[in-house]
Formats: sequence, C-alpha cells, structure tokens
Amino acid sequence: MTRVLSAFVLVAWCGLCFALDDDIVLPSVEFKPIKELAADIPTCSQSDNNINECIKQGFQELTPRLKYGISDLNIPSMDPFQLGKSSYNYNSGILQGRIAMRDVRIHGLSEGIVDKVDYRQKDKRVRLDLLSHVPQMLAEGSYKADIKLNDMKLTPKGTFNITLTDVSMKTRALGELYERDGHTYVRLTKLETEPKVGNMRIYANGLVPDPALNDVILDFINQYWRQLYQAMLPETMATWSPLLLKVGNDFFDALPFDLIVTKN
Ligand SMILES: *[C@@H]1O[C@H](CO)[C@@H](O)[C@H](O)[C@H]1NC(C)=O
Repeated sequence: MTRVLSAFVLVAWCGLCFALDDDIVLPSVEFKPIKELAADIPTCSQSDNNINECIKQGFQELTPRLKYGISDLNIPSMDPFQLGKSSYNYNSGILQGRIAMRDVRIHGLSEGIVDKVDYRQKDKRVRLDLLSHVPQMLAEGSYKADIKLNDMKLTPKGTFNITLTDVSMKTRALGELYERDGHTYVRLTKLETEPKVGNMRIYANGLVPDPALNDVILDFINQYWRQLYQAMLPETMATWSPLLLKVGNDFFDALPFDLIVTKN
C-alpha cells in the first residue's frame, strides 16, 4: 500500500509535468470569412477616449453568449467547452508513463467576468492586457493511464471531476496590423494567459482497485493540490500557448480587426 501510494505521489509531483510529445485535439471550428458584423455584436472606436471601458463592456456582453456560441464571430459553444482527447507523456528515468483523457467537458466559462482592460495601439502594433476571473469551473471526463515505476506497473482508469473556484486570469495579447482586401487585420505575435486558482477539489475513481486506498490518494492530492498545480503549470502552459496562438490567429484571419475596433 505504501508503495502504491508513493508511486502516486511521484506521479503527481513529476508525472503531470510531462513533456514533449503531448497531444491535444481541440474541437475543430470552421472560421468562415466575416465581411460585416451582425448588429448585436459590440464594437469600439479607435478614437474613443474610453476605449478600455468599451472593450470591457463588449467582452461582458459577449461572455454569457459563449453558452450557445456566437456564430457571427465563428465562436462555437464554449460552455461546456468540449476538449476532445488529450494525452500527456512523461519520462523521468525511473518513472515512465502516459495519461490520456477523453470526453473532457469544462463548465463555467460563460460566467467569466472581465475586471480590467488595457488596450494600446501604436502605429501597426496593438497590445491588449486583460484581467478576468471565473467564479467557478468544473472539468469532468474520463482518464486512463499507464505508469511504470521501476518494476511496478500501474494502469489506473476511471472518471474524474475537478472543481476550480476563483480562477483569475491575466492575459496578454500582442499583435501587428496589416492590410488585406481593403480591411485591416491583426496577426497575433503573442497570446499568453496565466491562470491562478483560488481553490481546487479533485475527485477520481479507479486510481487503484481498492476504494479505500483510492480515497487516501484523493485526500493526499486535495491536500497538496497547490504544489501539484504549481509543478504542472509551466509544462501545461508550454503545451497550450502555441495552440492558443494558432487558434487566435485562425480567428483573426477570418475577422477583420477594423470591424471590431473601428477607425472612427
Ligand atoms: C464528482 O464525481 C463524484 C462521483 O461521481 C460525485 O459524487 C460528485 O458529486 C462530482 N462532483 C461534482 C462537482 O460534480
């Protein structure tokens, strides 16, 4: 029992910060070229002295609509956000393994609140700093792992859910404006977000066949989630950042920037 538990502790500490050939499949979205916006999509004017307030209001109007998606903006339904499949590999010498997650649904994004917006535009460069938070998020799905620790092999499998409260996000987007077909578009050069979590509660079954030991492991994880989260975050963000940037650029490739931040 202690051996199994210490295996999990190790997995939790260095295991989730896997690397290299991680694999995430996002829902595929068709970004159809947008030529004009529907009347109910908020826009802001470049010359507005209160453009930050305008952008904040705009986000606030759109966020609840993430529940059903905003087809006029090529935004799919994002609450729940369906993450198809993702898998992570890890290899730290004595510990090797792979964890795959399926049917992961993340609830709560449409309850997001934008707290602060700082938008800057200078010549062809734009920058947007955003502080936002989501009061509560729930991620649920199923998982399957293969873990090898020295001579011990574990193949836990089951369902999980994770409740996150007070998730605050600091997002920075940098981009360059360019002209195409009589419109101004933006090409993002950087899109980074740093999530901070107020509290986290994890539930999973099937970690080990024995339910009592399963609970012991869960108690451990829930007690030390903050350290686990800190250990996981850099690798997770390293995997996610390029994906975010790619999706952001596909989005803005179809949507002229001058439709949402108008020139006058
Ligand atoms: C997580 O799953 C467990 C077991 O199925 C369930 O009892 C619990 O209510 C779930 N938590 C949430 C927040 O859905």
